Amino acid sequence: MFIVVNDSYDQMSEEAANILAHRIHTKPDIVLGLATGSTPLGLYKKLIQQHKDQGLDFSKVTTFNLDEYVGLLPKHDQSYNYFMWESLFKHINISPENVFIPMGMSDDIEGFCRWYEKKIVERGGIDLQLLGIGANGHIAFNEPGSSLGSRTRIKTLTEKTIEDNSRFFSKKEDVPVHAITMGVGTIMEAREILLVANGKGKAEAVNRTIEGPVSASCPASVLQLHPRARIVIDKDAASLLEGTYRHIPFEYISSHFED
Ligand code: PGA
Repeated sequence: MFIVVNDSYDQMSEEAANILAHRIHTKPDIVLGLATGSTPLGLYKKLIQQHKDQGLDFSKVTTFNLDEYVGLLPKHDQSYNYFMWESLFKHINISPENVFIPMGMSDDIEGFCRWYEKKIVERGGIDLQLLGIGANGHIAFNEPGSSLGSRTRIKTLTEKTIEDNSRFFSKKEDVPVHAITMGVGTIMEAREILLVANGKGKAEAVNRTIEGPVSASCPASVLQLHPRARIVIDKDAASLLEGTYRHIPFEYISSHFED
C-alpha cells in the first residue's frame, strides 16, 4: 500500500486527478473503474478542466462504475447514472458505448450481474479502479461483513450507509435499501487501485484500512493485500494514523512513485 497525505481536499483531488490523467496519457484506451459520492467530485472537476484546457482525451477510455441503487431510473437525480453524467461524462469526450454503470432497474438482477462481470473481462479487465470509502469501511456497497472474494451482486445497505446517504434525498425513507455493487473480489482484480478519502469522518475507517487487521468487518482493509494500491487522503482523514505517513512531505512521496 502506498499512502499519500495531502494538506487539503483540493490538493488531494489534484494529486488523484493527476494520477488518472497520467494513466490516460500513457494508455489512451485504458479501462477505468469509477466511483460516485462527494469525495471524487473535486477530482472529476479537475479532470474536466484538464480536458478543456489541455485536451485530455477520453475518446478511447472505457469506464465501469462500481455500483447503483436498485429501483431508481437512470434519469432519477439521485441515481449514480445521473450523478456520473452530470459530474463527469457530459463534460468530456467519452463515447457513451464505452460507459458501463450497473442497471438498478434490471428485472433480472442476477443475470445482469453476471453480464457486468463478463463485460469487464471482455474489455480487458480494469486497469485502474478509483474508490471512495464509507465511514464504516465499505468500498462500493460492500458493507462490513461482505465476503472478501465477492463478485458483482445485489446487497442490502446498512443503517449507517442509509443514514449517511440520506443527506442527498428529501427524506431517509426515500433512500433505496438495495444496491448492485461490484464485489470485493471484482475490485481486487483491478491492476491498480486508487482510494481517496477526506475529512475527520473518514479517519477511523482509513485507520482500520491501513493499520488494522485484514477483515471483512472493514472491507477496505483487503487493499493491504493488493500489489498496487495507493491511498490518497487529506490530513483530517489521516489524523488517526500512527504510522509515519503523515510526517513525510507530499513532494517526497510523489517523486518516489511516478508510474
Ligand atoms: P462519500 O462516499 O464520498 O460521499 O463520502 C464514499 C462511499 O460511501 O464510498
